[in-house]
Amino acid sequence: MSRSALNSRLVLVVGPALSALARSAMPRAEISAVTAEEVLAHPPAAPMDLVILDAAGATPEMLAEVIGQVAALRPVPPALLVGAHLPASLFRALLKLHRSDVLEAPFALGDLARVAGELIDGGAEEARPTSSCWSIMGAVGGAGATTLAVELATLLAARSGPGQTCLVDLNLADGAAAAYLGGTPNLRLADASVTPSRLDATVLSAFTYRVPGGPDLLAAPRDSNAFETVDPATVGRILEVACEVYRWVVVDMPRHRQPWSLDVLAGSDEVIVVSELTVPALLAARALAGEIDDALAGVTVPRIVLNRLAARAFGPSPSLGEAERALQRKADGAITSDWEAAAASVNLGGAIGRHRPRSKIVRDVQALLDKLAPAQAELAKPRRRFGR
Ligand SMILES: Nc1ncnc2c1ncn2[C@@H]1O[C@H](COP(=O)(O)OP(=O)(O)OP(=O)(O)O)[C@@H](O)[C@H]1O
Ligand SMILES: [Mg+2]
Repeated sequence: MSRSALNSRLVLVVGPALSALARSAMPRAEISAVTAEEVLAHPPAAPMDLVILDAAGATPEMLAEVIGQVAALRPVPPALLVGAHLPASLFRALLKLHRSDVLEAPFALGDLARVAGELIDGGAEEARPTSSCWSIMGAVGGAGATTLAVELATLLAARSGPGQTCLVDLNLADGAAAAYLGGTPNLRLADASVTPSRLDATVLSAFTYRVPGGPDLLAAPRDSNAFETVDPATVGRILEVACEVYRWVVVDMPRHRQPWSLDVLAGSDEVIVVSELTVPALLAARALAGEIDDALAGVTVPRIVLNRLAARAFGPSPSLGEAERALQRKADGAITSDWEAAAASVNLGGAIGRHRPRSKIVRDVQALLDKLAPAQAELAKPRRRFGR
């Protein structure tokens, strides 16, 4: 532990009986003490450096609820659970957090100071956690980019737990992701543009809509002038902060090139071009993938996903082999056509995986995720990604 780690740090102690001990162990920290009931009724508004939970101060069920609430804070603070005979349910609850530790009672004052300091130190090191950013672009209008972005983000959210995945809709003028998910577009670009450098995790969370059981969503309300008025620095900053806050960031990219498009693609770990199985779409996908290859050689290689694969009985569409020949590259994924499931999703509001979990679309997107995610196991090193 570095002692400076505890200076002026904001520490929330849940369980007032522990507060005197915490103050003695961390005399320079700013400690506030609350009961579990109070914190459940009024979650802390300011970002916390550490949350200490006294297992003797509330029932395990209530504490598990508090831990769930801590996991939903942005940025997620580390947590220290203190007590004797701790139930397994609380250990399981702690798994929701990036960083947590347990201090079994009885313990010495020095132990509390040391473990708290280590958590705060580690939290500072991880202020920019590793993350993966996947950007998705349609080769032609209506190819299925938004559908793929929504389904991928939903599966990633289900896999990673709440607050770990963000879907960013960069179709700033008329994005559809919020409507597809039945969510609210809360990203106020004009406010975000005033001073992009002040945009931090707290500001970002005010712009976010949390899809119940799904990803967090950053999408702007309809504004036909948005592309003309937005500052490229703002777009870069939004993604930069999203990558600091979330483990997974999925970007629904506009099809037409914006001044910031290449920066976003260059900062992405995966660039996915979505095409449908028509000759014009395949030719457009080949051209778009070629443009990305040329502009970002050595930085990223776009992947191609073919959408709306249907049995040939439904019309003279190219086979997968013919499609790959037209593309002059292999496709990395293929998604079956299922109009009924896609329509249920957009009309009811919510991912296909929610309304039609057995749809082949969900199965195919899951297969794509399984293919891409292991490649991401070695996480991108923290780095400045977006903007020059
Ligand atoms: N695999 C699929 N099977 C059936 N319908 C699909 C499939 N994928 C997408 N759709 C439907 O196709 C339509 C266009 O999809 P989507 O909006 O995702 O495309 P897009 O590339 O984002 O379009 P835009 O260019 O307008 O942004 C939507 O109605 C969607 O529900
Ligand atoms: Mg779209």
